[in-house]
Amino acid sequence: MIAHILIADDDEVSCQFFAETLESEGFRVQQVTSGDAALACLENTTYDLLIIDVRMPGMSGLEATRIVHEKYPALPIVVMTAFGSIETAVEAIHEGAFDFISKPMNLAELKNIVARALAQRLLQRRSEKNTAAEDDYPSQLGKIIGKSPPMLEVYKTVARVAPTKSTVLILGESGTGKELIARAIHEHSPRANHPFVAVDCGALTETILESELFGHMRGSFTGAVADKKGVFEEAQGGTCFLDEIGGISPNMQARLLLAEAVAKGQFRQDLYYRLDVVTVQLPPLRQRADDIPLLAHHFLRYYSQDGGKPVTAIADKAMELLCSYRWPGNIRELEHAIEQAVALSYQPILTPEDLPLEVREQKAHRFPSNATAAALFNFPDTPSLEEVKKRYVGHVLQLAEGNVSASFSACADKMIENPWASALL
Ligand SMILES: Nc1ncnc2c1ncn2[C@@H]1O[C@H](COP(=O)(O)OP(=O)(O)OP(=O)(O)O)[C@@H](O)[C@H]1O
Ligand SMILES: [Mg+2]
Repeated sequence: MIAHILIADDDEVSCQFFAETLESEGFRVQQVTSGDAALACLENTTYDLLIIDVRMPGMSGLEATRIVHEKYPALPIVVMTAFGSIETAVEAIHEGAFDFISKPMNLAELKNIVARALAQRLLQRRSEKNTAAEDDYPSQLGKIIGKSPPMLEVYKTVARVAPTKSTVLILGESGTGKELIARAIHEHSPRANHPFVAVDCGALTETILESELFGHMRGSFTGAVADKKGVFEEAQGGTCFLDEIGGISPNMQARLLLAEAVAKGQFRQDLYYRLDVVTVQLPPLRQRADDIPLLAHHFLRYYSQDGGKPVTAIADKAMELLCSYRWPGNIRELEHAIEQAVALSYQPILTPEDLPLEVREQKAHRFPSNATAAALFNFPDTPSLEEVKKRYVGHVLQLAEGNVSASFSACADKMIENPWASALL
């Protein structure tokens, strides 16, 4: 992995010079000109090294060093100053700096210090991996993010079911994380060291699916050139994930139930109820809007590191749009939106202009179809305009599942004057 270095120096010329020198050594460098800006960057991105100047307007480099060291004790900090004195050096080390250099510095010295600081960081990371259970900076995809009450319920079910052999039915709209949860169940189960085999039931024809699941003997149909193990056999001792199982034929569903029942020695009519099916229902993203900022920052960190682009923050206005959008494609759609925004962005902060059009214009609000619209206006007597509007807004609010800001922009889209809609909402 390419090391990511943050440089804070109010002298832009020297900042640029260090950045170029380090970039030519193959490092990824982000420059800022104040201690506050450095802190802001650290909030959103994981760096491997901070190089900070002592004298800067606002917060001094030493003050920033103290705060950064407290918050991110594993991050090496190199303090530099043009006004070097033994006192400053001592103070810098006391505040937690890894090392101290005085300006003007010789390049060999700079490279040497950076190499040592990064080596320490690497060691630190290795030992963290072995000891700490949780990484503060989820930098990998595949980690489950979310602290909202419905997600906590999901985690509890996963924890309860993972140690058992029960069949788990994972339900949820597209992109809500069904596969991620299936893998999490496997990883937390006693089967974790055995295979996790996924079969996309929705994408296969019935014959192929049948042979995928149960295997076949050579010559049993055209194209069966060799014996093939089915996934149930392949996943022996592990976990079998039957993705998109809702799409398979009733005939195949019956065969699956039967297979399981045989395995359990239960050959009874009321199979389904004996199958011990535990259900995990994944909430759509719009019902856990509290998690949107967490997820957005998670994807921002990942895609900015992955693409080598130092996009470190999301502007408030952009975050508001992300939080009020309806996300019909759920987390996958949010992930793509952030990935695309990072790729397009010219600045270290994502702004509304970087977001996909649907999000900017809050396009995904469902409006009453003609049938429900007819019911909407089915008043016994001629209603007042006020009554019609009131019923309409109530309906929009219901469709947006209580999300007021989404309803508000939906009303605005449909030309219901804002002051009026806002009074009602
Ligand atoms: N809670 C979460 N935290 C972080 N990333 C998530 C979370 N849930 C889903 N994702 C990410 O969103 C994407 C879609 O997730 P996944 O493929 O598991 O969804 P799915 O429900 O199986 O979707 P589909 O119904 O379309 O198959 C993946 O990249 C996944 O890593
Ligand atoms: Mg899936």
